[in-house]
Amino acid sequence: MNITKVLLAWYDENKRNFLWRETKDPYKIWLSEVILQQTRTNQGIPYYKRFLKTFPTVKHLALAKENSVLKLWQGLGYYSRARNLHSTAQYIYKECGGKFPTTFNSLIKLKGVGDYTASAISSICYDLPEAVVDGNVFRFLSRYFGIYTPIDTTQAHHEFKYKAMSLMDENQPGNFNQALMDFGSIQCTPKNPLCKSCPFSSNCIAFNQNKIGILPIKKGKQKVTDRYFNYLVIQDQNGEIQLEKRTEKGIWQNLFQFPLVETNCPISNKEQLSEKISSEKMDELNPEKLNLWNSSPIIHKLSHQKLHIFFWIITSKIYLKKGYSLKALKKRAVPVVIQNFIDNFFTVDA
Ligand code: ADE
Repeated sequence: MNITKVLLAWYDENKRNFLWRETKDPYKIWLSEVILQQTRTNQGIPYYKRFLKTFPTVKHLALAKENSVLKLWQGLGYYSRARNLHSTAQYIYKECGGKFPTTFNSLIKLKGVGDYTASAISSICYDLPEAVVDGNVFRFLSRYFGIYTPIDTTQAHHEFKYKAMSLMDENQPGNFNQALMDFGSIQCTPKNPLCKSCPFSSNCIAFNQNKIGILPIKKGKQKVTDRYFNYLVIQDQNGEIQLEKRTEKGIWQNLFQFPLVETNCPISNKEQLSEKISSEKMDELNPEKLNLWNSSPIIHKLSHQKLHIFFWIITSKIYLKKGYSLKALKKRAVPVVIQNFIDNFFTVDA
């Protein structure tokens, strides 16, 4: 069977008409691919549209304020991707005269651009034969060829890239790559793949050996760390609220949040929490008005962390030096769990 031909014929019939398939503009393709690494295609569409409406060119993105970029990214997670988009746009605008690099080697040097994104841009925008390897590609190739190498290893990346390269249609690399990705997300799905109507089933090793449920193999899940976040929602008599920027590396860098007290275990009473707050800060607050908003934690799962989140409501005796009005607060990029709290707690419209 000529896999490439069969795949491209399948694509001809089943191709999805996404907005980003109407362009070869590398800025737009870059943006779509970074968004699609974060979310499913349908959920990515509104983000893609909003981004392009606000920042139609790499210059617009380069000249944007970081908070506006993060605010548009809000809800997608992995905020380092948005920060990298922004700083790479600045690099292209300032150092490359606003022109997108046009080779795989120059693309992969950009901050936040790895083999996947560089291959996608190279093939879709410049017709360069660089195979993309994403979860869809791993799944289809491991099943079809019966490859047992765990896909969460560097070795697998090399092996699958090589395999995909050997199948590449050099006359239409962009179509070939997107055909593989569409095939993986429509036909060769993780659960209940459509083997009955699959044009590859007669030669598919996993199908013929009844290994669809086993392939692809993953080596093992990384350990998940539990973290306990106590947010202090401090409001003064002007109704202003204290917010701070999360500057440290790690999750949510440069997003805003309420003052945070992180503990080793859940805390459910005021006294325990008060002990964790500095005495200078406590002097400014009304401890008798400290109230726990959610008696059971809000659980927020990230790839390797499970956050147990409590919101504590408290008033400030003094006027906050850098307090935010509700209107100002709503403009700040915040983690979704905080946005949900804001939407629930501050019911009065700003
Ligand atoms: N997933 C990520 N990028 C994609 C693309 N260009 N086509 C289909 N699925 C994708």
